[in-house]
Amino acid sequence: MKNNPLNIFKKFTKKSQTESKLSETRNLGTFENETWEEFLAHLNRDILPLYINHEKSFDHHSIHGRMHICRALIFSEVMTRYYLQETVMNPSVSAIRYAVAFHDSGRQGNGFDIWEADSAQNCINYLSQFIPEEKAKDAGFLIEKKGRWGLDKRIMHDADVLEIMRPCCGHGGIDGFRKKALRFLGAADQKEWRDAEIRNGFIEEAWYLIRETERLKGTIRNVKDYMGELLEFVERNEQELPFISKYMMDDVY
Ligand SMILES: [Fe+2]
Repeated sequence: MKNNPLNIFKKFTKKSQTESKLSETRNLGTFENETWEEFLAHLNRDILPLYINHEKSFDHHSIHGRMHICRALIFSEVMTRYYLQETVMNPSVSAIRYAVAFHDSGRQGNGFDIWEADSAQNCINYLSQFIPEEKAKDAGFLIEKKGRWGLDKRIMHDADVLEIMRPCCGHGGIDGFRKKALRFLGAADQKEWRDAEIRNGFIEEAWYLIRETERLKGTIRNVKDYMGELLEFVERNEQELPFISKYMMDDVY
């Protein structure tokens, strides 16, 4: 692996002091019960620096950079928490988080993703430092489109699907978005959980978040807590983002 996350150890100052929550001796139990704050500490310290490298090399416009990853994480987290709180389904919280975080890490260029397997391997290599390799592979498996599509993989890729709306992708924002491409609460779910109103509302909010935060790209490029900036944006825009706020702002996970 070219960019070994272990070689990137940046001094990390987190507003919510999550630095103290970093754990290097996780076992499967602590991994599977890892809180959002604990995950964010790993994201900031070890994973986002990979994307900073991309932004400094082939991805100067940050098409697949930190903004894309952090928003995708917000989307996947909202979907995960929705399923956990509102249905009987049990998505694998930590596996989804790390899969989304690493899903573009292996890229060596923009455009069609021919590096999915590399991204998956990055995810596996990283998690294998903390948990058994077989379990790490469960997370890496979510990144590649091949294989069985269960709920976890649907959430992982739905987060990326919503991000297709970002203007730098050139698909025409929300007007060019194919709503059927989003699996969340649609035909892939059992009938009792399908909900067109929530789906449509989520798409509208995702577009608002994408459109407005794209404008922040230049100004937050050098902040230490990139994800923190986006989460603060969500908090400030609770009225425009009621669904996303509702599921992001509770401290249950
Ligand atoms: Fe992506």
